[in-house]
Parts: sequence; C-alpha cells; structure tokens
Amino acid sequence: MSRGGDYERLPMSRSGISASSRPLIRPRTFFLILRYALPMTALVVFLGFYFYEPHIELAFYDRTWIHKEIDPVSPLAGCFDQGRVSPSYNVSEYIYGPKKTEVQAGKEMKMGLDCYNFAGTIKQEYRSPYSSRVPPEERTQYHTYWRSDLAPFGPRQEWMLKSFFATQDTTTSRLILWSNGDLSGNQILQTYLNRFPDAFALKIVDIPGMAIGTELEGSDLLVSKDAKAWVDGDLIRLLLLWNYGGIWVDMDSLMTRDLDPLLEHEFVTQWDCYDKKYLPLNGALMRFRKHSPYLCEAFHIMATSTPPRSGSTDWGALLYFKLWRRLLAASIPPFKVLPFCFSDGRSCRLDNRLPDPFVPDSTAGKWTFGLGLEEGGGLDQVLHKVFSVHLHNQWEKSYPSDGWVDRLLLRRYDKKLEVREEL
Ligand SMILES: *[C@@H]1O[C@H](CO)[C@@H](O)[C@H](O)[C@H]1NC(C)=O
Repeated sequence: MSRGGDYERLPMSRSGISASSRPLIRPRTFFLILRYALPMTALVVFLGFYFYEPHIELAFYDRTWIHKEIDPVSPLAGCFDQGRVSPSYNVSEYIYGPKKTEVQAGKEMKMGLDCYNFAGTIKQEYRSPYSSRVPPEERTQYHTYWRSDLAPFGPRQEWMLKSFFATQDTTTSRLILWSNGDLSGNQILQTYLNRFPDAFALKIVDIPGMAIGTELEGSDLLVSKDAKAWVDGDLIRLLLLWNYGGIWVDMDSLMTRDLDPLLEHEFVTQWDCYDKKYLPLNGALMRFRKHSPYLCEAFHIMATSTPPRSGSTDWGALLYFKLWRRLLAASIPPFKVLPFCFSDGRSCRLDNRLPDPFVPDSTAGKWTFGLGLEEGGGLDQVLHKVFSVHLHNQWEKSYPSDGWVDRLLLRRYDKKLEVREEL
C-alpha cells in the first residue's frame, strides 16, 4: 500500500471499499455502510472529545451597529484638561499617584480558582479604630437604589443591608438607599435608621437636579417618556457618583468583604470571565470619585451618542467601553476593570463559578475541584477572598435554608450584627 502523496491513487482506495460490496449503492450497501460508518463516526467524535477540548463561541453582532457604535473612537471632550477638572478632584493623586494594591491581573483568569486566588492577593490593611465620630457626609458613600413602586422592601431585600453593615466599616462609611419614592414608613428600614443614624440614610433621587452642571443638564434624554426604563439603572449610578462620589452597589448583591483596599482606584467590573468582545464591562459595582473627569466624559458620550434603546446596555456596558477606548486614544490611564469574580463569581463556567445561591447544596457537600461547602471549607475560603456576590435579580427566589448562602453568609451577618448591637 503506497500512499506517497499520489492524488491519482486516492479514488482507488474508495473503489476498494465498494468492490467488496457490489457495484453502486443498493439499499443493502447503504445499510452496511451505516452499520459501520455510524459507530466509527461516533467513536472518532468520542475520542476527539476525550483527547481534545472543543472551544466554540458563537455570537452574532449586527455589522451596522459595530460600524456605528464600536469601531469609531471619537475624541474626549476635554474633561481632563487642566482648568476643567474640578478643584475637588486631584488628578496627580487620584490618577497618577502611587497605589498600594494591584486590582487587574493583566490576564484573563478563566482557569480553576485563579480569579478567586487573585482576589486573595488583595490584603486588608489594619486600620486603628477611629476614636472620633466621622460626620455622615464625610464618610465613604455607598449608593444603592430601590424602586418603591416595583416591589415592597421586605426581608429578602434586607439581606443586602445586613451584608453591608456586617462587612463594611460602619464608623467610616455610609450606605444611602436611594429611591424614586418615600420609603421612610417602612418598618425594616426604620430599624436601620435608628440603629445606624450616621451610617445609613434614605434619600429620593432628583435626576434633573443631579444633572445640573453636567453635559446632560436640561437634556430631553432625562425626561423622555422612555426614560424610566433605563433611568433607574444606568443613569442614576453615574449621576450619584458624580455628585457625591463613592461606590455604587446593585441592590441584588450580598457583600462579603470590606471594599476599603479597592477604593484607591476608580473602577467598573468585568462582565464575565469570557470577556465578550464588544461588551466586556459591567457597572453592577463601580467606584468613582466626586466630579471625576471619567464621569464628565461619560456624560459627554451620553449627550452626543445615539439615544439609548430601551432595555439595552447602551448607557451601561457600551458606554463604559466607548469611554475606555477614548481614554486610551488620548493617552489617559483608564479606570480599572475588576476581575469578574470580585463581585460576580457566578459569571463563569460550570466548573469554577460559585454555586447557584437559590438551589440547595449538593448532597455530596461539594462545590467543585473537590472543594467542600462546609464552614472553613473551599467555598468558604473563596467567599473570604471576593468582595461581593451578585444575585442577578431573581427577587422571587429565596435562599434554601441551610444552603451555602444561609450558612456561610446570612447567619454570619446576623451574628456580626448581634455583636455590634451589644456594643
Ligand atoms: C494633589 O495631590 C498631590 C499628591 O498627593 C499633592 O502633592 C498636592 O498637594 C495635591 N493638590 C491639591 C490641590 O490638593
């Protein structure tokens, strides 16, 4: 059998097969081929999967949209120019100043526990307790938002507050729960107002008021009839951070660790561990300082781009991405992008994402890579490294009793808050 690359000979090997089974295709031949070809194909596919990992990602992006929204990198509006930066924002310190911790790995961290382990490299610095009271306005401001007309604020929502008071420094930070209506009559919220008068506040958002002094001031975009659909999401967080500075946290989060070591940076987060080509950034947890020129540039993009489509991420992921690319084009260090697992360990592959918070623990008591779900176990250690767990709404679901969320997070919040109550 000589194969010596002789193409003329190839058809002969085929005729060799058909020779053993009479000329042309008769039903019998057909079934004979099926009988051998099918199992052979199955075997090859099986072996192929056994020895090789297939990596296939299919996504469809509208070419017109890419040409219009992604490809062009327009110039910045000049918010970083000397003389235009607000006196309350120190560019040489906040953007160019030395930093203690690195929050970007410089590499995707899809494998194993890499991302969680990277989060573990960020150490909490010991801070001596403040002896004097820090006035509410001077604290690190955390902002979150709850639509009063959407659903009542109940025990399920209260867990986010508990997670905040159990994990953040209540002597130096303040959580402001913003809303589009009055929440002060709510029994649950009243208990927190009484207990943490300096570290908790309820406020009502005034969108047009907050936009004063920005490029969006007086814009139709703030009052258009569609506004409600995106206003309560993407716009509010940017306006709040512009006016007050601090950290935005989505209400559907459970905080697991003090965010303090991250706060020397301004940041958004990675959407998931796959880094979607055109929409890699997420704003469920973001940090910007008051009058940050990054936000000033974001408002410029909002004011000059195509108005956002209802229910889209046009004023979220797409906006951050446009801004990030414009910054690079202008040789300005961009804001940071926290790795997905810092706040959203659910957004990766089956084998290394956090277990589903709304499903009872596996009967084997294991998470992944043989790591356990018990107190002090593998999952518990990971939860001490990351900063928050994003629950992606799912407000109608509850945490299974004695499940990992209940044991490793909720009970500990309660315990921590009990201790604090006694003090
Ligand atoms: C800005 O920060 C730098 C570096 O920390 C400092 O030297 C400078 O005095 C600050 N400028 C203002 C106006 O506070």
